[in-house]
Amino acid sequence: MHGPLSLLQYTGACAPGPCSVDRFRAHGDTIAELPHALPDAGILAGSVRDAAQPMSAPPRVALALTGASGVQYALRLLGCLLDAGCHVYLLVSRPAHVVIGMDTDLSVPGRTADMQRFFEQRHADAPGTLEVLGMQQWTAPIASGSGAPDAMVICPCTTGTLASVASGLCTSLLERAADVVLKERRRLIVMPREMPFSEIHLENMLRLARMGAVIMPPNPGFYNHPQSIDDLVDFVVARILDHLDIGQTLSPRWGIEHE
Ligand SMILES: Cc1cc2nc3c(=O)[nH]c(=O)nc-3n(C[C@H](O)[C@H](O)[C@H](O)COP(=O)(O)O)c2cc1C
Repeated sequence: MHGPLSLLQYTGACAPGPCSVDRFRAHGDTIAELPHALPDAGILAGSVRDAAQPMSAPPRVALALTGASGVQYALRLLGCLLDAGCHVYLLVSRPAHVVIGMDTDLSVPGRTADMQRFFEQRHADAPGTLEVLGMQQWTAPIASGSGAPDAMVICPCTTGTLASVASGLCTSLLERAADVVLKERRRLIVMPREMPFSEIHLENMLRLARMGAVIMPPNPGFYNHPQSIDDLVDFVVARILDHLDIGQTLSPRWGIEHE
């Protein structure tokens, strides 16, 4: 029996990369059998999608960076997704581009085609494929329900984009893709970064959570005794990969690897 979510079932070639992302877990046949399975959204979506999409097709994940601090999480996640063999649609808002320049030592080009080359070179050894999309590229597959990605991660997510997505605005490809992912009941993971949160931020998060989105603020745990910033980043990225059903060994699991 074919399971409902191809994200979990994918076992195609994905050489362990620098972030040690495992091959996708070869669990039982259906995600519905797993304790952390999405309740109904993924199952509904997958039953239709499986008929059209071969099981060996790599997962298609939209990764959107917005102009909040913490782009390190997104850059690490991008590498892990490509190492895992995913097809990644990368969206970078203009403010995100500014923040990359301030939060990191990277000189990421601003133009879409140049950014595509930059990240392709940076991840040249990864088996996954990358498609950098412009924020107004309405012809992109992820702008349509029929081309919706299996999952979308907004990481980090500004309070502005949080509000836009919670309100269903579609003034950029990023917002439209999130709207599509919600309406098609695919997986939407949002990493809001602000401190403290106002009532508006909290209400927007609640609104999205009630629609099935997973709200994952960058709150690393310290029980693994992190030794570096990389450890803290990996803790958060590992939890996102878990929610994408992508096997990972970035961070020990409580009560499992500790034994
Ligand atoms: C260095 C820097 C850091 C920022 N950090 C945050 C942040 O952590 N959270 C946030 O919501 N906005 C932050 N902002 C403000 C957003 O970039 C700004 O509201 C922008 O309009 C968001 O647009 P976007 O959501 O389309 O990327 C930051 C801006 C700069 C320049």
